[in-house]
Amino acid sequence: MSCRTTTFALLAALALSAATPATSVAAKQKRCPASGAGCSLKQVAAETGIFAGTALSNEMTAAEKADVIANFNAVTSENAFKWSEMSKTAETTDFATTDRLVAWARWKKLRLRAHTLLWHRIQNAPWLKAELAAAPDPAARLRELIAERVTKVVGRYRGKIEVWDVINEPLAIFGAGYDTEDTAVTPKNIFYTTLGEGYIADAFRLARKADPKAKLFLNELLWDSRIGDPKSDALLALVARLKKARVPIDGVGIQAHAMLGTSSPWFPSTTASLKSYIDALGKLGVKVEITELDVRLPLLADQPNPLAAQAAVYRRVASACAQARACTGLTVWGVRDSDSWLDSYSLTSATAPNKPLLLDASGKRKLAYQAVAAGLLGRRR
Ligand code: XIL
Repeated sequence: MSCRTTTFALLAALALSAATPATSVAAKQKRCPASGAGCSLKQVAAETGIFAGTALSNEMTAAEKADVIANFNAVTSENAFKWSEMSKTAETTDFATTDRLVAWARWKKLRLRAHTLLWHRIQNAPWLKAELAAAPDPAARLRELIAERVTKVVGRYRGKIEVWDVINEPLAIFGAGYDTEDTAVTPKNIFYTTLGEGYIADAFRLARKADPKAKLFLNELLWDSRIGDPKSDALLALVARLKKARVPIDGVGIQAHAMLGTSSPWFPSTTASLKSYIDALGKLGVKVEITELDVRLPLLADQPNPLAAQAAVYRRVASACAQARACTGLTVWGVRDSDSWLDSYSLTSATAPNKPLLLDASGKRKLAYQAVAAGLLGRRR
């Protein structure tokens, strides 16, 4: 070390030690109360070590971006990384939007979860079906397309994206009536029917190779299933198979959209049952994050105080995450109520405005906001 460097190091250390007492007093005074009152989720995240995230849409206004920065320490791309958005044809990949998003998240020091590499519902590549139908060997062609996409997209952002949702919703939606495909837990998605379950392992292995340090997640919806129902058991079994086959999977995301009527399996879920489910996943050797939480207000219209009831659902989920050691993050699916995807989604648009999020249309914190803070504060560093 040169003399100059030593002097600098010494000065820096002195400056730091002089600053330390004041900083720690200030930090102490500002420690969040257990009720979460007056605390941002970003502060809660710093105190608990649990990432507090929101979905980041491509159409965000400056005010909403300011909300993100003021309230959260993590973001998930709502649409930008989906295959339909990045590749309008089999031969092209457009990185303009994802480049911008990645740069912004890094600039603002927000942990980024890139969502998602392979998803067969709603936003799969619109040309994929025809492409496979025209191929002499559809399985070989699909393998090639998956390898190209995973390698190219993950590789481009090597070292810049902390978490990938490699596979989204591999399982079927359980129970008839929600989707045309589904009556059982057997997946009928285009990846599965063409390649069998092996497509999941392949995609994880390719992603690991393209960015060895990124955390790789499988993300699944569970609004169709009570804990202990066949769907939630199928997810445990799938993860167990993947771990046994040494597939490089680091985590499981539980979407947690509360979607259906008041009979939604998600609502009766108690803190204890969700905690024990997260524990069961954790025992398999994966981390768990609540990845896409929203709670539709119209489902609670019969309650004396719907906003308080909504806050109670949020609190149950946040408390379960705080209590289960494997849980490393909680992300809500949107910033303000007015941005929620539920107001335009076919199954939920009839009840718009669904007001399912933590900030109201003007950016004001709702009861649910403090409920999430209080729930997460069940775990402190
Ligand atoms: C939704 C987006 O929020 C909408 O903007 C888009 O039109 C459709 O997809 N499960 C998922 C998410 O994994 O990718 C979905 O996001 C919501 C359900």
